[in-house]
Amino acid sequence: MTATNTAHTAPATPVVGVALLGHGTVGRSVLQFIGESANDLTHRIGGRIEVRGVAVSNPDKHPDLDPQLVTTDAKALIERDDVDIVVEVIGGIEYPKELVLAALNAGKSVVTANKALVAACSAELGEAADRAGVDLYFEAAVAAAIPVVGPLRRSLAGDKVDTVMGIVNGTTNFILDAMDKTGASYDVMLQEAMDLGYAEADPTADVEGHDAASKAAILASLAFHTRVNFSDVHCEGISNVSAEDVAAAKAAGYTIKLLAICERITTDQGEEKVSARVHPTLVPISHPLASVSKSFNAVFVEAEAAGKLMFYGNGAGGAPTASAVLGDLVGAARNKVHGGRAPGESTYANLPIADFGEVTTRYHVDMNVADQVGVLAEIAKVFADHGVSLRTVRQEEHDGAARLIVVTHAALERDLQATVAALQDLSAVRSVNSVLRLHND
Ligand code: HSE
Repeated sequence: MTATNTAHTAPATPVVGVALLGHGTVGRSVLQFIGESANDLTHRIGGRIEVRGVAVSNPDKHPDLDPQLVTTDAKALIERDDVDIVVEVIGGIEYPKELVLAALNAGKSVVTANKALVAACSAELGEAADRAGVDLYFEAAVAAAIPVVGPLRRSLAGDKVDTVMGIVNGTTNFILDAMDKTGASYDVMLQEAMDLGYAEADPTADVEGHDAASKAAILASLAFHTRVNFSDVHCEGISNVSAEDVAAAKAAGYTIKLLAICERITTDQGEEKVSARVHPTLVPISHPLASVSKSFNAVFVEAEAAGKLMFYGNGAGGAPTASAVLGDLVGAARNKVHGGRAPGESTYANLPIADFGEVTTRYHVDMNVADQVGVLAEIAKVFADHGVSLRTVRQEEHDGAARLIVVTHAALERDLQATVAALQDLSAVRSVNSVLRLHND
């Protein structure tokens, strides 16, 4: 009888090679978590992650990096045969776009945290991923640790989403929350946000709403299966929100939040369109979004079958952003090991993008007017002439003139804008101090 060898040889654990592009706050956290959770990640993936290299522009600024991993040649790193997945955490648009396209065209899956890139170039990136049959993941691009891209792309893929709305920028929420709590001005609270490290040295992208608009473009594209770019999003920031606006909102039972609002709307002509916009909004203090404080984010989704959903948490920072990147990396790595693909870009509905003038909402209009006989009637007539119905009118004595705060019923944005232009032509209206929109509750 011949002896047979019955011992089983365990199959070798597959290896998934990863290139990391960028080693800032997020890149550092990604690398740290990959190191600390190596065993767990191997079990979850069914394969072992190996970092092949980290591309940076100036290695001298990264003395903590293993010299064997560091490179300035991102393209050569991407093209290595032993790299399967590219993680892009550089930021900016042009250079990362070149690298991400190079990776996708070379058949490598990509995980990116770059909202500006995804919002500006979703068509090119999505098509390149589809052509190569690889994955493009970007959970970290919207609200960092809060899972909202995945739910829209997968969990709600069978439902009809009508609204995605929320606070998707932590810096502006910190500033507005602090203005509301202290009564201080925008400038004072912006400085505090900078001193505490919430706001960047150049806070423009945050305070002017561009960061939130990129996120709105991504959310609207996913929710409505329609390509919505950054340039399709109407965007107003918070730099003109005054302490007086905040106090007036508070007196009326509201707090001001910078909301990203993505809606499926039906125009007067009965046409279904997509509206994506970012602007300061008066939110009733009883609404859950009003209690989102400090730099937290929250996203509301309303879908026909699912009803109302809310996602809340940390929308910025190294570790929370890295959490989302790692989740995507596990997904992409599983697909490499076991086969399958993440959902590709879905734009089949191809709905038209609504003009901002076609949006309907309520308004809070703050004016200084002459305190004379007939002025209120004259002003009310301007609203009426433009089909804008008044809901409440509040008048206060103000330096020999009157401060008039009008809250309207729902009206078309284009009608309200025409109303404001006509008000500014009235000699009795000394100034229109602000026009703020109210949350449609
Ligand atoms: N700067 C953003 C914020 C985080 O303040 O929320 C990254 O998008």
